[in-house]
Amino acid sequence: MNKAIIVLIIVIAGLFLAAVVILGKDAVRLLKAEGYLKYSADEAVELAHKKCVQCHSIDKTAKYCMRCGPPFVVVVHNMRALIGKDKEKYRGVEEIRDGEAVAITQVWNALVGNWEDSWRKQDLAKLLENDAALIKLMNTPVKEREIEVALTGKSAAGADLTIMKPMK
Ligand code: HEC
Repeated sequence: MNKAIIVLIIVIAGLFLAAVVILGKDAVRLLKAEGYLKYSADEAVELAHKKCVQCHSIDKTAKYCMRCGPPFVVVVHNMRALIGKDKEKYRGVEEIRDGEAVAITQVWNALVGNWEDSWRKQDLAKLLENDAALIKLMNTPVKEREIEVALTGKSAAGADLTIMKPMK
């Protein structure tokens, strides 16, 4: 076979492989963001830091507490709603998709605290507006929430303080 043709075939195969690798990664990321694939606990922690440091320091989240306001399921809903409501003001801020919101809520619940129990479900549901993904999470017993369970015991107050530092 002609050398040029062999080189051409190799180049095309290479490009094809690169496309599969790149698109494959993107596809997996998108599927996770939409909630079709699961995040590992580590991925969820990284995601929570990345998304929640976009407008204010992680400190605001790490120091949030039961006395401060509604549980994180509502906070995360409010934050993602905020981005949606004022696209102009928050231009450049990445939105928080369903799968991401569910994973991120579990991370802060585990690392900072989960006081959903001290709220009435109806009140939480009202505060969650039409956020189906987070309403579903709110109705899922904690022991069935894989990320939250995996991270339980790692707290923002203890030795894990290092991971509470803003990533930026
Ligand atoms: C689009 C920008 C933006 C993003 C992204 C964002 N926040 Fe906020 N956050 C705000 C603003 C603005 C406030 C203050 C206004 C308010 O309390 O509603 C705030 C307030 C808070 C508060 C304090 C609320 C209170 O009642 O004291 C907490 C906790 C918080 N954010 C956590 C988070 C978490 C967790 C994430 C990631 C899911 C996040 N934020 C992502 C803009 C953002």
